[in-house]
Amino acid sequence: MEIIIQPTPEAATSIAAKLIAKLLREKPNAVLGLATGSTPVALYRELVALKLDWSKVTTFNLDEYIGISPQHPQSYHSFMWENLFQHVNVAVKNVNIPDGMAKDVPASCELYEKKIKAAGGIDLQILGIGTDGHIGFNEPTSSLVSRTRIKTLTQQTIRDNARFFGSEEAVPHHVITMGIGTIMEARQNLLLAFGDKKAAAIAEAAEGPVTAMNPASALQFHATAKFFLDAGAASKLKKADYYRWVYENKPVWQQF
Ligand code: GLP
Repeated sequence: MEIIIQPTPEAATSIAAKLIAKLLREKPNAVLGLATGSTPVALYRELVALKLDWSKVTTFNLDEYIGISPQHPQSYHSFMWENLFQHVNVAVKNVNIPDGMAKDVPASCELYEKKIKAAGGIDLQILGIGTDGHIGFNEPTSSLVSRTRIKTLTQQTIRDNARFFGSEEAVPHHVITMGIGTIMEARQNLLLAFGDKKAAAIAEAAEGPVTAMNPASALQFHATAKFFLDAGAASKLKKADYYRWVYENKPVWQQF
């Protein structure tokens, strides 16, 4: 696991954007795994500003709420079109987001996994993290080998996400999410986390034991996982000085 700590979210976002841009330039038909939430908004803005060619890119989103239509302002469909897809030349047929209105949700989850495989697997997955350590919507105690499926949100996540819906009551309780096993198969995993609120979850994920109680800790078993943090999210890391030193002293051949 590589931990990159920057003074601000903007600085950390820029480095992550550079890595994604490099992939899209080297592999124009890359398969990207995308995340929602407030954390990647600036990353998407930066990718848009880079004016990359998305015409051959395929995307798979991590998750979606069950029971709200794609047109709902808080659906992850709406989020993705608003923050990224409408600003780039991605082909609509190459955009994949779990269908929260599917008649047969388990069958749609199975199909989603098949589509990821048929696309050749995910080259690079963008991740945020919940205050309880969730990635995608894999809440604590999710199986570390889980696949795309239905999950029930924790009270903590419902509270955290109530700000988007106006009230806790309006937040759907059920969601579709790629599994931890699905995420672990991505060739690259970039996790972004900003602010003190994420510090405890990040410290557990990076330096604690691998445990289903902090789903992001599974990334310790991912060969190339990278965490992009600001000072707040890094504030509880025991070895923060080491991570900073490593990044600042990378020889040219190791720089991003
Ligand atoms: C939601 C999403 C996650 C995201 C998390 C954190 O629960 N399903 O993918 O990482 O929120 O959101 P934020 O970036 O707004 O803190």
